[in-house]
Amino acid sequence: MCIVAANFKMHKTRSETKKYIDELKKMDFKDVKVTVFPPFTAFIEDELIGAQNAYPAVNGAYTGEIGLEQLNEFNIKKILIGHSERRHILGESQEFIAKKFDFYKKNNFEIFYCVGEPLEVRKNGLKAVIEYIKSQFIGIDLNYDKLIIAYEPVWAIGTGVSAKLEEIKETHAEIRKFTSRPIIYGGSVKLNNIKEILSIENVDGVLVGSASLDVNVFKEMIKIAKDIK
Ligand code: 13P
Repeated sequence: MCIVAANFKMHKTRSETKKYIDELKKMDFKDVKVTVFPPFTAFIEDELIGAQNAYPAVNGAYTGEIGLEQLNEFNIKKILIGHSERRHILGESQEFIAKKFDFYKKNNFEIFYCVGEPLEVRKNGLKAVIEYIKSQFIGIDLNYDKLIIAYEPVWAIGTGVSAKLEEIKETHAEIRKFTSRPIIYGGSVKLNNIKEILSIENVDGVLVGSASLDVNVFKEMIKIAKDIK
């Protein structure tokens, strides 16, 4: 089994997303599990669609947020929680993230739970990285049967510089000690490195940002995943 997911972040409109999904579905994914995370305003009803974020409530007085009620309208059953951009740019605390996890777990969502260290931590070596990631596991049920861990080193996101294969290998091996659930990698995954990354032990898939925005590139990535796993 291999997971290939696209995180559009704050890119694309609803009509663009619809076109993208239509094009994507022309191919046979075989055993590859594909998910696309568009912005809220680009939600369409399709089993491939997941949410980049949502508030841990059905509805309520939470200006600027969406909750379970809004996700249900689109039959959305997958969510990204703990992305580093939400942790670092939007200031989400581990406590709040754990609340979201708990809420969407109770509602039976497939949760793509993101962890990853900033550069200053990576500079201190693997032990420091694992300590940091452990702090991102606080309040998270690592045995949840619909959990997918996404390891995304902050310094590799959107920089065009992916982590080295050895760094991915050793970090995933350490994370594996905490969970038997799938562990996917994200951070500058491109057409020219996806094959090597997917070939690493304990890498069960990829979470792709910028390179996923072109549907033909993303399709090509799925094709590579199909051949490897
Ligand atoms: P990039 O692929 O653009 O580095 O983004 C990775 C990411 O943050 C996916 O969630």
